[in-house]
Amino acid sequence: MTHFLILHKKLNQSPKYPNKKSSSHVILIIMKNYLIIGASSGIGNSLCNILSDQGNQVTGTYNTTDATDTDHISYHHLDVTADELDLSFVPDSLDGMVYCPGSINLKPFHRIKPEQFVEDLNLQVVGAIKIIQAVLPKLKKGDHPSILLFSTVAVQMGFNFHTQVSVSKGAIEGLTKALAAELAPNIRVNCIAPSLTDTPLAEKLLSTDDKKKANAERHPLNKIGTPEDISEMAAFLLSDKAKWMSGQIIHIDGGMSSIKM
Ligand SMILES: NC(=O)c1ccc[n+]([C@@H]2O[C@H](COP(=O)([O-])OP(=O)(O)OC[C@H]3O[C@@H](n4cnc5c(N)ncnc54)[C@H](OP(=O)(O)O)[C@@H]3O)[C@@H](O)[C@H]2O)c1
Repeated sequence: MTHFLILHKKLNQSPKYPNKKSSSHVILIIMKNYLIIGASSGIGNSLCNILSDQGNQVTGTYNTTDATDTDHISYHHLDVTADELDLSFVPDSLDGMVYCPGSINLKPFHRIKPEQFVEDLNLQVVGAIKIIQAVLPKLKKGDHPSILLFSTVAVQMGFNFHTQVSVSKGAIEGLTKALAAELAPNIRVNCIAPSLTDTPLAEKLLSTDDKKKANAERHPLNKIGTPEDISEMAAFLLSDKAKWMSGQIIHIDGGMSSIKM
């Protein structure tokens, strides 16, 4: 028989093992505290559900999409572009933090104003920097803590009309590697670079069956991503199973960045 001992480190519980004479197996599961910025939608929401189903405690944020608390998830309002960020809801100790806010503004380069590049950078990069700086002391108290960021396939590959998003996500990839060096060996930093994934962010690009089909066919694996295609890897990277991985950009993109058909 297998016994699951689910412990939360905040409660300072110590395991009580079954009678040594019995032939039981004991699986020890230590619950963790995660912070997900942008947990109300898409990949962040899917990740939130995976982590909470594992019994972890998740502190999530929403901006415009209201979300309902559960036993394992508490949601708090946050706009990362605001001048002052009130992060008083973040627990004292964190085992992982994830930054999900992003945008996909596709336009010809000559039609994008410099201010629009700055706006994009504020949402995708400066927001992440502000949050990481604010919660670093809490991550330092965590158990094998890690940080997870999101890039895009459009950094590894050049695509028409993608300069705005590529500039921001290129900065995120640089941040991932430099920060991974600076925070090693105590805090791991990794990044996932997805291709087109079916979330509210990509709604305009996937609004008809024809668009869905055409976009799927651009990928060697002939499909667009689901939030779970990405969030399963995110959950792995946050877990102790990935304890020897840091400074990595993981490409989950239906083969787009590495296979030529
Ligand atoms: N979906 C794709 O095709 C794709 C492709 C490549 C890369 N990515 C990257 O993957 C990451 C997750 O994308 P997704 O598709 O899951 O996006 P999504 O469905 O739009 O979810 C983004 C999350 O961030 C929150 N958010 C947005 N603006 C915010 C702000 N100003 N302040 C605070 N929170 C804010 C949203 O909150 P509300 O909903 O409450 O407003 C939502 O919870 C992004 O970094 C994106 O760039 C996505």
